[in-house]
Amino acid sequence: MKRLFALAICGCAVAEAAFGGNMNCGLWFDDKGHHINAHGGGILKDGDEWYWFGEHKIYGDFGNRAYVGVHCYSSKNLVDWTDCGIALSVTNEVGHDIESGCIIERPKVIHNAKTGKYVMYFHLELKGKGYKTARVGIAVADKVTGPYRFLKSLQPNGYESRDQTVFVDNDGAAYHFFSSNHNQTMRIIRLSDDYLLHTKTEAIMADGDKTEAPAICFKDGWYFLIGSGCTGWMSNPARSYRARSIMGPWERLENPCVRVNPANGLGPERTWGCQSTFILKVADDDYIAMFDMWCPKNAVDGRYAWVPVTFTKGGKIKVIWKDVVDPRAVGN
Ligand code: DGJ
Repeated sequence: MKRLFALAICGCAVAEAAFGGNMNCGLWFDDKGHHINAHGGGILKDGDEWYWFGEHKIYGDFGNRAYVGVHCYSSKNLVDWTDCGIALSVTNEVGHDIESGCIIERPKVIHNAKTGKYVMYFHLELKGKGYKTARVGIAVADKVTGPYRFLKSLQPNGYESRDQTVFVDNDGAAYHFFSSNHNQTMRIIRLSDDYLLHTKTEAIMADGDKTEAPAICFKDGWYFLIGSGCTGWMSNPARSYRARSIMGPWERLENPCVRVNPANGLGPERTWGCQSTFILKVADDDYIAMFDMWCPKNAVDGRYAWVPVTFTKGGKIKVIWKDVVDPRAVGN
């Protein structure tokens, strides 16, 4: 289906294009004609549909606080998205961990084949405490679209937990990756079989690198992690890592980004103005790296960039900028 998208990066209109996929950093519309509101997100395939979960932002300066919750969209083709509503809602209960006005970031949902439950992990900062409380929140649902029931928030095994993701390995074991120790270190903890608890199996990677925004995939015997540096909402150079075993040792590789985003003139030195959030496996050998282009002055206007992932013969990961990516054509 051909659609017309207006490309306006954080308020300044620069181009208009007609195409079959999504124009990176343009407006991506849902079935109701609204710009998709699922920032810092991740995608789960369930049956023959894809489900995109992300931070629901609001207009204005305070738009990065959670006044609504985690938004969910579904799609059969990764291009046309249907609004499934709010999967996890914040509450008005004063003092509750997810009280309206807290910070909920980088939600990721995984499905537990044994229990049948859908489990959501997200970075949680308690209301009114800035980024000082450094917790992970866990919520659970019987249906992929929710409603998700908040279970608890905690510091995993006593560690600070900020930017985060969860990764399900080929054997069904799940791992929580999170920035810790004032973001100096990325920690990895294996989850319990039901994905609801952190076990004592833990490791560190990227120690001293100040890596945020972890996004992970596995390809041809290598685990890869793409991340960013720590510069708040401002983009910085991405970095990549690889390991033969998920618990490490992880080896730091170079910046995986290649080429320039012509809409803003930014290249690998600024991750095209974006920050990594998730690597989506679209088919057996095909992956898309998902990025956010944050818009802190009006968070709801944040944009998305999905860029195909390339793996080199030498076992490295590359993400080569494309203006328009049609996920249906990736790998073809
Ligand atoms: C960078 C992180 O990756 C985002 O998720 C968010 O926490 C911002 N920092 C806040 O400044």
